[in-house]
Amino acid sequence: MVREMTEISKNGSEVKREPQIKDSKMTREEYIEKACIHFKELLEEQLERADRMKAAEKEDKAQKDDKIIIGLIDGDGIGPIIMREAGKLLEKLLKDDIDDGRVELRNIRGLTIENRMALGRSVPEDVLEEIKKCTVLLKGPTATPKGGTMESANVTLRRELDLYANVRPVSVPELGIDWTFFRENTEGEYVLGSRGIDLGEDMAVDFKVITDPGTERIARAAFDFADKNGIDRVSVVTKANIMKKTDGKFSSVCRRVADEYPGIKTDEWYVDIMAANLVNPSLRSQFRVFLLPNLYGDILTDEAAEIQGGVGTGGSANLGDRYAMFEAIHGTAPRMIEDGLQDYVNPMSIFKACELMLRHMGMAAQADRLGGALDKALSPECPYKITGFPDGSRTEELVGYIYKQL
Ligand code: IPM
Ligand code: MG
Repeated sequence: MVREMTEISKNGSEVKREPQIKDSKMTREEYIEKACIHFKELLEEQLERADRMKAAEKEDKAQKDDKIIIGLIDGDGIGPIIMREAGKLLEKLLKDDIDDGRVELRNIRGLTIENRMALGRSVPEDVLEEIKKCTVLLKGPTATPKGGTMESANVTLRRELDLYANVRPVSVPELGIDWTFFRENTEGEYVLGSRGIDLGEDMAVDFKVITDPGTERIARAAFDFADKNGIDRVSVVTKANIMKKTDGKFSSVCRRVADEYPGIKTDEWYVDIMAANLVNPSLRSQFRVFLLPNLYGDILTDEAAEIQGGVGTGGSANLGDRYAMFEAIHGTAPRMIEDGLQDYVNPMSIFKACELMLRHMGMAAQADRLGGALDKALSPECPYKITGFPDGSRTEELVGYIYKQL
């Protein structure tokens, strides 16, 4: 028997459930038949998504709000700690704009793992509604249960707000590193990541989806960025020798877009050798803009952030045509909370996200002011080094130093 596709949660809302085809009484033919029905539904849904993207290409979706509402979402684990610091920082940097009502900082409650689990929703509907009232969002990390069918809140938000470009800059001036990653953020391995199929006890199948319009828009974002910033090289990263259909499509669409930018040299690499290149001192400084599908972007940006000083130092912009969400690239670090290490949390990643957000909001002066202070805090001259343990600096010491540099 295939369990129900939907069930009713405590608050009466419908919770989507994928079929868990694990019943030992089912025959192999029955497994396959059920899986095919599920697969057919996914294909129809994904083709409709591609159609919607194509149709949306021509729409003007930019927000034209008079007032900028910055939604602050705490998240889980160390999320509330770094978000408290981010809130204080923004109050300081945007004091005049807040005082005269041009900017509002608005706390969005309810995106906690406890609330999400109780409601059986990766992003509860009322929370999503509040989120959609904001112009931009700053978000702490959110926990995702392993296994089960609960989707990551990040993945849900990226999809619901159509935040297709995950832009992650990494720079280490003393090593000549100035990288910007353009990670596709709404499809690839993620789009159906919680909707795979168990076929009995012995086999499980997940799906990877790459579409033409989904790739075209991230490729355009990357090439436009390179073009506007006078960067003459974009490096496409795939594993198209193995993932022939999906990465093959990603690669060919990127090449098609590249043809529109004759001044930019496009090269293509497989993700394994690119992972090696990033730690190769004689090669890495020549790369500037990376263009990659979702999962490879996830992995390589953690590696890149580690080179910059740790995953606690990387900022992440999730950009769509209407909404934008900024976040730390690291997770909720539950062990830091369990081990009582709250005072040693690194706020750098969320501060970097604040810088990206200010720049996105057109507040270049404040972004530069913050960016300069963060560069100093990351440079060898800063006496405070956060390790996440009592052998390193405390959060408040680094924050104090950053405030002095502002
Ligand atoms: C990131 C994170 C997320 C991702 C998780 C939290 C779902 O690792 O933003 O890189 O995998 O995209
Ligand atoms: Mg990641």
